[in-house]
Amino acid sequence: MRPDRPAPPDVSLRRLEDLLAGLAKRFGDLRGKVDMVPRPQVTLQEIGGLAAAKREIQSLVFALRRPELHQRWGTVPVKGVLLYGPPGTGKTLLAQALAREAEAVFFHLRMRHIVFKWYGDSGELIQEVFRVLAGNGRGVLYLDEIDALSFDRMFPGEEARAASRRVITVLLERLEALGGMLETLAVASTSRPDALDSTLVGPGGLDRLIEVPLPDGDEKREILAIHQRRAEASAGRTLFHTLDSDAILARTVKMSGGDLAEVLRRALEEKARREGAGENPGPVETDDILRVIEDYRRIKEVVEKIRYGQYL
Ligand SMILES: Nc1ncnc2c1ncn2[C@@H]1O[C@H](COP(=O)(O)OP(=O)(O)OP(=O)(O)O)[C@@H](O)[C@H]1O
Ligand SMILES: [Mg+2]
Repeated sequence: MRPDRPAPPDVSLRRLEDLLAGLAKRFGDLRGKVDMVPRPQVTLQEIGGLAAAKREIQSLVFALRRPELHQRWGTVPVKGVLLYGPPGTGKTLLAQALAREAEAVFFHLRMRHIVFKWYGDSGELIQEVFRVLAGNGRGVLYLDEIDALSFDRMFPGEEARAASRRVITVLLERLEALGGMLETLAVASTSRPDALDSTLVGPGGLDRLIEVPLPDGDEKREILAIHQRRAEASAGRTLFHTLDSDAILARTVKMSGGDLAEVLRRALEEKARREGAGENPGPVETDDILRVIEDYRRIKEVVEKIRYGQYL
């Protein structure tokens, strides 16, 4: 697909870097909190399943690249999107692919880290990042784990509730202002839609909800195939026997794309370890994968308990 509008020139990239460096002077090190990725690597084709979500992303790509299409059809593009679904289902991948296909700069705002570091100041930082984006070429602002803005869940008490309100008000104002900016789109994500402040979702805010569900059987097959292909392309040789996908799928109930990718990674890692120990291991077989899945299931349970605080 050729862009009808030119992609952001390098000069505006340099300008963006300068502006971000200016923000770092004021707020301190931004790494891991606000990261700019000029060209994400992920394409829509490398995302398995999620047909409905990918269709939505495709129309957002057009909204950024060819806003006049909306005008021709008498409508206005969406400016604020919420991707919601369980952890590891591909929300971040979709947002990155959107930026890539739209030839937009990707701004990754990790809300949880921002809130922990700047709590009271986070509204100001968010406001400044929106300002940096304005008028500097095409941009996707990814508000990752937006549920972290419900401060009172993390810092109980009246003060946190008031601070949370202030930040959400600022964000809503900024989202509203995006209406006049054809080149910029805000995409938020959450795996806890129940924890989200309801004022964020609706007209003038995040007014397009996109579900990113766990994969079904066929989608899992697709995801496994994508990751197998990627590993083989990177190694430049065959790494897998033909796998019995029915046997594998039967053991992957409730697993996400992230889980499947991790299972394959562990199976390959095991091969590397055995080669290191002087063995001559063959390609990955179904039994190798099934063994890894059993170990991984146990670990995943513990990780989820830690993540969602059931050990606290
Ligand atoms: N649909 C998919 N197709 C291919 N790979 C996938 C898919 N979903 C997840 N993955 C793999 O899992 C990893 C994690 O996915 P991603 O970071 O997009 O999940 P997420 O929904 O943002 O999760 P979280 O809620 O934890 O942030 C990806 O880097 C990729 O390797
Ligand atoms: Mg993510």
